[in-house]
Amino acid sequence: MIHIENVSKYFGEEEVLKKINLSISSNELVVLLGPSGAGKSTLLRCINGLEQVSDGQIRINGRQITFNKRELRLIRKKVGMIFQQFNLVKRMSVLENVLCGRLAYRPTFPSLLKKFERRDYELALHYLEKVGLVDKRNARADELSGGQQQRVAIARSLVQEPDVLLADEPVASLDPRASNSILQLLNRIREEEKLTMIITLHQIDYAKQYGKRVVGLKNGEVVADMPTDVVSVDDLYQLYEDTALSSKPQEHFREAADKVVHVHA
Ligand SMILES: Nc1ncnc2c1ncn2[C@@H]1O[C@H](COP(=O)(O)OP(=O)(O)OP(=O)(O)O)[C@@H](O)[C@H]1O
Ligand SMILES: [Mg+2]
Repeated sequence: MIHIENVSKYFGEEEVLKKINLSISSNELVVLLGPSGAGKSTLLRCINGLEQVSDGQIRINGRQITFNKRELRLIRKKVGMIFQQFNLVKRMSVLENVLCGRLAYRPTFPSLLKKFERRDYELALHYLEKVGLVDKRNARADELSGGQQQRVAIARSLVQEPDVLLADEPVASLDPRASNSILQLLNRIREEEKLTMIITLHQIDYAKQYGKRVVGLKNGEVVADMPTDVVSVDDLYQLYEDTALSSKPQEHFREAADKVVHVHA
């Protein structure tokens, strides 16, 4: 469960997130849409404690994100994150990359991979199996295709045994076939592992296809929050238009949202 209450974030004078309020239930999948610069990545970074909010609070399963180092470690462990660029260590093997996800469980960074324990290996192999890459465990990360590298990144986040998985444009570097397969995999994993998931996307058709709930962010504000099956592609495209929504975005989407059952009060 993620609770975001009145969250604002400033970078210098610029208010990048403006009083965001959102509640996301356990095991829910939310697709976060919005034009470049809307604040999507910043919001995700606030949720996993990479950025400190300027105002308001974020709670994950009741635990508030603070900047106490110990608390932050606990939060980061429970919030996995994957990125557009996979962020693997290219020269390391697939298995070693996945094992890196276990570092959150180590008191200090083990410079020797030998320090991983049996359970770490078991988990790494278990999740590599789950993402369909156990046969590639000894391959170097940079020998894999983009889609395969993203699968490794997913396995690396899963060995953290997170409650929440945040995916920041996970398919932006992939072709349509690999994109579909990664989004299907994420959805399956969410169900199997009971994860709460937020995925940012730029592709509206994928948002419609894979998301159950879509949240639209524009200029740091939530301008849409509704079930995906009732929002039209045209409405979603409006998020990306400078003119149509720039004056009164909330009103526009509120009208659309009033026609449907609200996801949360
Ligand atoms: N570390 C930072 N320092 C200063 N400004 C920042 C920083 N990170 C983000 N910003 C600014 O915050 C705003 C929101 O950026 P953010 O990366 O969250 O947008 P986004 O919705 O993820 O965009 P995109 O779709 O291009 O990834 C932008 O104006 C950006 O320039
Ligand atoms: Mg971004």
